[in-house]
Amino acid sequence: MKSDRLGGSTGLSGPVFLASALFAGMVVQLAAAAQGLAQDAEAGKVVYDLWCAECHGVNGAGDGPAAASMLPRPRDFTQARYQIRRTGSGQLPTDDDIRAAIRDGLPGTTMPGWPNLSARETEDVIAYLKSFSRFFGMGDPPQPMELGTDPGGGPAAIESGAAAYLALECEACHGPSGRGDGASAPTLEDWRGFPIRAADLSEVWLFNGGSSVDDIHTRVLTGLDGTPMPAASDAMNAGVVTPEEVWALAHYVASLGPSQAPPLNEVVRVGRAEAGLPGDGDADSWGQAEAFYFPLGGQVIEPPRNFAPTVDGVWVQGLHDGNDVALRIQWNDPSRSPDPSWDEWQLKVSETLDMDGAFDLDASLAAVDAEITEDEPRGDAEGEVPRYPDRFYVQFPFEIPTSSQRPYFLMGDARNPVYLWTWDSEQGVGAARGRGLASAEELPEDAVAGQATWSEGRWTLYVRRALVPDPEADGITFAEGATIPVAFQAWDGSSGETERRSSISTWYYILLEPPASNRVVVAPMIAMLLTGAFGLVLVRRAQSGD
Ligand code: HEC
Ligand code: HEC
Repeated sequence: MKSDRLGGSTGLSGPVFLASALFAGMVVQLAAAAQGLAQDAEAGKVVYDLWCAECHGVNGAGDGPAAASMLPRPRDFTQARYQIRRTGSGQLPTDDDIRAAIRDGLPGTTMPGWPNLSARETEDVIAYLKSFSRFFGMGDPPQPMELGTDPGGGPAAIESGAAAYLALECEACHGPSGRGDGASAPTLEDWRGFPIRAADLSEVWLFNGGSSVDDIHTRVLTGLDGTPMPAASDAMNAGVVTPEEVWALAHYVASLGPSQAPPLNEVVRVGRAEAGLPGDGDADSWGQAEAFYFPLGGQVIEPPRNFAPTVDGVWVQGLHDGNDVALRIQWNDPSRSPDPSWDEWQLKVSETLDMDGAFDLDASLAAVDAEITEDEPRGDAEGEVPRYPDRFYVQFPFEIPTSSQRPYFLMGDARNPVYLWTWDSEQGVGAARGRGLASAEELPEDAVAGQATWSEGRWTLYVRRALVPDPEADGITFAEGATIPVAFQAWDGSSGETERRSSISTWYYILLEPPASNRVVVAPMIAMLLTGAFGLVLVRRAQSGD
């Protein structure tokens, strides 16, 4: 993470502090030396054309060949509007700011970090970036703002920060719990007119400019130029909030979610609920079940692809009682689709993302319709934005595999179908057979049941079924103590996600814990875990190769 960006405030003491101060001094000297070598924009062009032009465009206008599929779009350097700055709102970034953004990347976006560029290459490419805009040649070099020092966190600071969150109307965009579902969220655009999401403040580890309190304070105070987010320094200068309150606000935001990505699990451990299963997703008894986080990525393997998915992760809990199994699945989605107040947003997203290699929205929607016969978009009157529901699928094989063989993770194929628990915000919970993406065929005799609720930018889905299905039904028979493959898929209807345009996971596992007396170590599990990790590598490869 980027907690070291501002240096100095890491709470080190004694010899460690001294050593690190000396080291920091050395780094500064090295950086100065590197700058002393004179930034060479011409040499920087070579680095840029090799590594950056694909996204940022040969002329720095943010329009490289890969840009059309991205949201947020790669930065347009010609107007010099930078987000990750310690300089005041509306000002140019310092070289240190640009250097940090290049080194660390912008988490939560497609902008990767470039720690492997040499100091020389980094300085040269900075010079080249600056050469795209005439603003850098004008006036004195930009200076960082006076950021002050953190008076410290704790419950009182968090409470004062929560008050500042309301006073400064952060809620209008970020929503009451910070999940990006504020009333203005569907209307937001960046300075180029591209739709922009109000960041989900509960995913602190995905903040573009780093997740430490210092990082958050700097972003909030200096603002994110080029986005609709105002800089709190303006409110501070107008006396609406004190500097202490802005620090408190940073502590409050940091408290909304973990600063590090949740640990990656392979297995949902489904404990035995001796006192009976919770009856719905709100039951207090879910408190006893461990929650496992699984990241989701855009479906980019089969067209139409989804490079800018809304749902980027899911929390899963499970309990069983020897007869039934229940899952509680939670994910963040700022819109409760279908919702007419997100029509404009959906239209802008569809127009911005080059979904089928063409910008023509009608043509691309027609292509989707032609390809998908069994599921027409709903609420679609002539000339209107088609409205899609939100959806979630839980995918299993039809039978517990005896080897590491599993169906194709993208909803199976003709020979190896998958068994699906399906949920749709209009039709509720059901079961289906999948023979490939967008091929769900309903299994009406299956007795899976459940419901979902949406609150403040988050869905909570509850699904339940007997371990052994009805004799007429085709579903999997869950066995205690077996590792059973499971995968997840989510759709945000209000961002135009339907059919293949979804968020997906690779295969993970679900394990129903047997009663304490007969718990055994299941040997094949190890082998399956290994292949599971391999599967993930494959997905990553497939995604990055596209
Ligand atoms: C895979 C696409 C991709 C590549 C390759 C890429 N970038 Fe980016 N870059 C982005 C995106 C997207 C953003 C904007 C993210 C946002 O707006 O939140 C960005 C933003 C930036 C920013 C702006 C930071 C700020 O403060 O606003 C800088 C500087 C930058 N990139 C430099 C580079 C350099 C230098 C390279 C090559 C060494 C590079 N990028 C390669 C996608 C890319
Ligand atoms: C007008 C809408 C709007 C308001 C009001 C607003 N924000 Fe934001 N905020 C945004 C948008 C849009 C982004 C995402 C920018 C991006 O993706 O590059 C964002 C991003 C952020 C981030 C993430 C920074 C990062 O490093 O990625 C934080 C933290 C944040 N806002 C906090 C706040 C706080 C605190 C307030 C109240 C003082 C506030 N915002 C008010 C629209 C708003």
